[in-house]
Amino acid sequence: MSHPAIVKDNVAVITGGAAGIGFAAAAAFARAGMKVCIADVDEARLAEAATKLSSVTSAANVMTSAVDVSKIESVTELERAVHERFGRTDVLMNNAGIQPGSTLFDAPDNWQRIIAVNMWGIINGSRIFAPNMIARGKCGLIINTGSKQGITTPPGDPAYNVSKAGVKAFTEALQHELRNTKDCRVTAHLLIPGFVFTGLTAKGRTEKPAGAWTPEQTVDFMLARLEAGDFYILCPDNDVPRALDEKRMLWAAGDIVENRPPLSR
Ligand code: NAI
Repeated sequence: MSHPAIVKDNVAVITGGAAGIGFAAAAAFARAGMKVCIADVDEARLAEAATKLSSVTSAANVMTSAVDVSKIESVTELERAVHERFGRTDVLMNNAGIQPGSTLFDAPDNWQRIIAVNMWGIINGSRIFAPNMIARGKCGLIINTGSKQGITTPPGDPAYNVSKAGVKAFTEALQHELRNTKDCRVTAHLLIPGFVFTGLTAKGRTEKPAGAWTPEQTVDFMLARLEAGDFYILCPDNDVPRALDEKRMLWAAGDIVENRPPLSR
């Protein structure tokens, strides 16, 4: 389908995979014939998601895992369980996130939780899964879900902005590390969704607001970008590249093209 890592019988792990963008990605990977592990903190949603995936693929290709990405031991156990069931991981999508709202002088608990899930979640996932992915010597993908708010840092919800700025910074560090590792065929990517109508953004609305994307549109976009080339940042929003370091990025035809040679596969 869209990328050499996204092929039949390869294994995808998606955190926050029981709903929204994560579930749409899991369904797309399953439709490509991949084995998928949907990992989520919400066990009731996990069961519903597994049932929904049964219309797309066989039960043998799906596993669910109750995980709290903010806890390193929980993510360690996730990797162990995936490898026990499917033997390896080819695609890791660190996507779990929360946005409960924050103010600058909130109690520390709220800030800590937002940063623990959104930022530490992707750090835990990347650090725990990447070594085995690299060691296999095969083509692999790590996709970390950031946010435009981590780049443009608009007023309001500072804890979310900080957490997502951390996702961007960490993913860049990971990408540099992977590219400097001999014979490494794993690449890291930052997904920056636009405004996507999900449980995170619904805020009581039952109808998709004008201008919002569906999770499926977002995943189609992500897969198309991966297919078109190894874009480091997968982002549909034109404001984001304007806010990025222009020395490192070329701005072309509405898309971000990284100013270096294509990544090897
Ligand atoms: P969603 O709320 O529909 O799905 C998020 C999933 O993450 C839920 O199933 C939830 O149970 C799970 N989750 C929450 N905390 C967790 C934890 N500690 N461990 C494991 N799983 C956990 O939200 P949506 O919109 O699909 O968000 C996915 C990602 O996209 C998030 O990182 C979010 O910040 C990001 N994002 C979303 C945008 C949007 O417009 N919906 C825009 C920009 C970024």
